[in-house]
Amino acid sequence: MTITISLDRTIPAGVAAVAVPVERGDLAAAGLDEGYARQRGFDGSVGQVLVLPGGADAAPARLAVGLGEREAVDVHTFRRAGAALARAASRIESVATTVVDVAAEQGIDRPAALQAFAEGIHLAAYRFTTYKSDPEPSQLERVVVVGGTGAKAARALDLAERIAAGVCLARDLVNEPGGELTPSVLAAAAVEVAEREGLEVEVLDRDAIVERQLGGLLGVNRGSAQEPRFVTLTYEPDNPKGSLALVGKGITFDSGGLSIKTADGMMTMKNDMGGAAAVLGAMSVLRAQGTKAKVTAYLPLTDNMTGPDATRPGDVLRIRNGATVEVLNTDAEGRLILADALSLVSEDRPDAIVDVATLTGACVVALGNTIGGLMGNHDDWVDTVRSTADAVGERVWPLPLPAGYRTRLDSDVADLKNVAAGRDGGALTAGVFLREFVADGIPWAHLDIAGPAWGAAEDGEIPKGGTGFGVRLLAELARTFRRPR
Ligand code: BES
Ligand code: MN
Ligand code: ZN
Repeated sequence: MTITISLDRTIPAGVAAVAVPVERGDLAAAGLDEGYARQRGFDGSVGQVLVLPGGADAAPARLAVGLGEREAVDVHTFRRAGAALARAASRIESVATTVVDVAAEQGIDRPAALQAFAEGIHLAAYRFTTYKSDPEPSQLERVVVVGGTGAKAARALDLAERIAAGVCLARDLVNEPGGELTPSVLAAAAVEVAEREGLEVEVLDRDAIVERQLGGLLGVNRGSAQEPRFVTLTYEPDNPKGSLALVGKGITFDSGGLSIKTADGMMTMKNDMGGAAAVLGAMSVLRAQGTKAKVTAYLPLTDNMTGPDATRPGDVLRIRNGATVEVLNTDAEGRLILADALSLVSEDRPDAIVDVATLTGACVVALGNTIGGLMGNHDDWVDTVRSTADAVGERVWPLPLPAGYRTRLDSDVADLKNVAAGRDGGALTAGVFLREFVADGIPWAHLDIAGPAWGAAEDGEIPKGGTGFGVRLLAELARTFRRPR
């Protein structure tokens, strides 16, 4: 099922196809018949692959892989090209390719380009087949990258495979139906990752959650037949360089609770643990990439259901840090479980925090479904998150947390309410709510991934359904972690 990517100095005998790079508008240089290529809609743009039939005597087929304009080629071009190649070659068993050679010509670090290219291949080959009686797996088994075979190249391939596996773990968890992936099943998946990767893990059951006074998590769980869980995972290298806390929203299904969603609004709500899945996927690669910081994951897990004792609009919950919250809309549940998690994190005083959550439909309205919203309380840390996202090719965009917006959450009966009066600025309101639970002086960034956690259509390395968005960003943040200034 998984594709093996290897290195060789020359094109090995017996490969079924050879894939060569083509720059946009440079078809003749690549030996292509321009008329034939154009007829097939191929002009060398990134994401395009033209399959040319094999020659006489079982000569390998040729694949032309578009890389776009020469000046625009960057490391992400190789991820997209790898993804396009994996999709186009899904009926070809083995491919040798010289695509990565273009990196050197453009002054791009070859191992970085190779890693991105390999990531693109692995990520585009992903299928969620658990419930398919007749899965149609990709037939592509082997890709040979022709060129250098040194240790750096081998390491790049290894990292790509490990990171893609982390992303695909997050995708699998998101794609698993909400009725199957209950909080206890998701907690068990976290324990499995911890045992495999040598992480410390603690799973709080309902009684332990009551004892820790996680009133937000318990309030959201009140309408459910499934017990909640709170999972912490810790990666701690020798002599850690700084400490990073990752918080992931883990709503295993969001019906909206008594403030119930529409039928359409509920269809994709098994993805409401996409934040927790991204954190878990990132935790799974920390050791392989030689992370030097201590990294702790905090995952509050429950579904949001409408059972007979569900939290009623108007109920007041007491969060871990003592603050009381009037719940006026039970569908604004993510912020309630994150409030407990951020309170607990604050007690541990890490050097920096990132939370990741499929938090608001408003963020999807603002940024569309491929870009995450980025907010926070510390400019330097928010900038770091943003530039790290750029570096790994995951798209986020900064949104403000206006000081004056806090009054929108003033409650008549409690310290604050969980929703503002109007829907306007909903992504910011949610961010402003979360900020209340981060202790003063701890740099914190909030990623609203309600859009990009779910793919509406196949696009490059991104599949339909769970995308694993955030895994690459969080892993890279951990790998490059420095205390924010
Ligand atoms: N899980 C949803 C947000 C969401 C919406 C994620 C669409 C992915 C796609 C969240 O719990 C929610 O329901 N938010 C409400 C908040 C509102 C009641 C203030 C929303 O966005 O409508
Ligand atoms: Mn909701
Ligand atoms: Zn939700």
